[in-house]
Amino acid sequence: MSQEESPTFEARLSEQEYYRPPPAFIGQANVSDPDIYNRFDEYPEGFEEYAELVDWDERWDTILDASDPPFFSWFGGGKLNASYNCVDRHLEEYGDKTAFVWEGEPGDTRRIAYQDLYHRVNEVAAVLQSVGVEEDDVVTLHLPMVPELPITMLACARIGAPHSEVFGGFTAPALANRLEDANSRYLVTIDGYYRRGEFLDHKRKADAAVEELEGDVDTVLVWTREDELHPDTNMVDGRDVLVADLLDDHRGDHIDPVSRNASDTLFLMYTSGTTGKPKGAQHGTGGYLSYVAGTSKYLFDIHPTDTYWCFADIGWITGHSYIVYGPLAIGTSSVMYEGAPDHPHKGRVWEIAERYDVDIFHTSPTAVRMFMRWGEEYLEPYDFNFKHMTTVGEPIQPEVWRWYYTYVGHETAVIVDTWWQTETGGVVISNLPALDDMKPGSVGRAMPGIKPAIFDEEGNEIEAGSGNAGYLVLTRPWPGILQTLYGDDERYISEYWEEFSDTESDDWRDWVYKAGDSAVQAADGYYRVMGRVDDVMNVAGHRLGSMELESVIVEVPEVSEAAVAARDHPQKGEVPDVYAVLMEGIEPSESIREEVVSAVETEIGKFARPENVEFVNALPYTRSGKIMRRLLGEISNDRSLSDTTTLEDPDVPERIREQVHVS
Ligand code: WTA
Repeated sequence: MSQEESPTFEARLSEQEYYRPPPAFIGQANVSDPDIYNRFDEYPEGFEEYAELVDWDERWDTILDASDPPFFSWFGGGKLNASYNCVDRHLEEYGDKTAFVWEGEPGDTRRIAYQDLYHRVNEVAAVLQSVGVEEDDVVTLHLPMVPELPITMLACARIGAPHSEVFGGFTAPALANRLEDANSRYLVTIDGYYRRGEFLDHKRKADAAVEELEGDVDTVLVWTREDELHPDTNMVDGRDVLVADLLDDHRGDHIDPVSRNASDTLFLMYTSGTTGKPKGAQHGTGGYLSYVAGTSKYLFDIHPTDTYWCFADIGWITGHSYIVYGPLAIGTSSVMYEGAPDHPHKGRVWEIAERYDVDIFHTSPTAVRMFMRWGEEYLEPYDFNFKHMTTVGEPIQPEVWRWYYTYVGHETAVIVDTWWQTETGGVVISNLPALDDMKPGSVGRAMPGIKPAIFDEEGNEIEAGSGNAGYLVLTRPWPGILQTLYGDDERYISEYWEEFSDTESDDWRDWVYKAGDSAVQAADGYYRVMGRVDDVMNVAGHRLGSMELESVIVEVPEVSEAAVAARDHPQKGEVPDVYAVLMEGIEPSESIREEVVSAVETEIGKFARPENVEFVNALPYTRSGKIMRRLLGEISNDRSLSDTTTLEDPDVPERIREQVHVS
């Protein structure tokens, strides 16, 4: 943490003006009474207000069981089914209402009413059962943005099989890793999907992943994007089955939703951590569903008559919580889009917003920066009118915020900047849109019932308005919190709790959740999140661990050691820079550079592509043998070097800097 940066930071922050939410918005908002904060200060009782938004087969008897921290259990004794809550219970009132209107990249569209969703989810649940999936089996999904993705997720939830969706942009080895960690014997994929005009062969990634695992995966279910199978799709006998064929046998089937305990697992979502191995964040059913339903209603201000568009990928947590579970739990009509935002032209997003009359728009700073770079002329031809906009996933620069406010929101939409993580399940820091003024670049105050704090290295709280940055922590549990890391309780404790908790204590008040971000709190109580303090970067809103990339790069035969640091990037927020030491006698060359880049692209995915590959003589190791990636980050970003005294050879960073700047 660079303490010396914070005064400048705070000075920049204080220049930002408040923007008031428009009166027209306040007049119609779901929450316009500030008493909500008092209600949720009754802890943990306040959170029952979210649980009341959900239908329970049996009501909970314990709101929060904190007897075994940090393994918290919400709404214990309660029973429910997430698929029932997202589908069945809306049928009476909203059967004909659109759940999703989906647009394929080539322009094909599908409107799926709640009634249709009900039929599809039931049939797919029957298909899953027919291939042997049972309650508590983990089903891995590797699906792009097609309606079959939420349908399959809900079908899994219906039969109590936790799903583990792996972002479609991940390649075979990354998929294999996640299949293996989750001991998943079932994989659901699709033959292909459209991206920038091309019909991509998607299933080949599943084939390679399953082959790598040599028999651990029994069944691969294959959806089809078109009537005809992708010409390159190869079906393996005895393992691969077309969902379309199985569906023929299950048309009109009805599968009773399984009544799940509130604490039963709903899904796993793998995310990057500080070691090479991805972490399977495990989310339960009752607490999670209540939390995402409540935040969808109160924070995104979704009303039954609104059309909502979260322009994100369901393959990440944002899509799970705020395309699928939260919005569907409250009966929302959502837009879903398959493809690239600039295909076939850079006005595509605004064309879609106009066509479906979107009221609420949700996206990332990376997307806004891209729209800004393309220019406002691409928005002008389209007539759309948002009342509410979200930004999520990365810090947003005040100037980017203002562009979003002016050109996308026409100065009449409110903006909520929402801070959260895969692990938090739903948004934990943001302003409620009708209650608090907006401040560009600032995520605002805590959500109701959430108690963040900023700690210094010793775990002392840093006072609001001091201008000092510190570690962002959450000091009491909330219903959306992950249950654990799948199969690894110890890592769960060491990653999130150990540093600032009294791990001997069985009083939850002694347990503090460390988010891994640095933040500063202004005198008005607003938080501004600056970024990760650990070796995790945020590339275009996607979390990537340095170690994850490094372990791929050292597989390149000519490379002996590698370290990856984050470089600030005007569009993507951050991009990885690689520092590689080559094997004895090997000379740096363009072809090795290409090998490194292509190793990352094929082993992880194109989104992780390094910006620079630097060949260096040595890496900055501490005397205890750890690579100080922070110093490499300073070199990448042309900043002055911080303390190097703990290094085995304190001159290494300066030598790297010289080398890098010469080349
Ligand atoms: C970052 C995405 C600044 C942060 C929902 C966090 C943000 C990581 C914001 C989690 C925001 C998320 N402002 N930074 N509004 N929202 N982050 O797990 O570093 O993919 O730790 O969850 O994104 O990324 P994840």
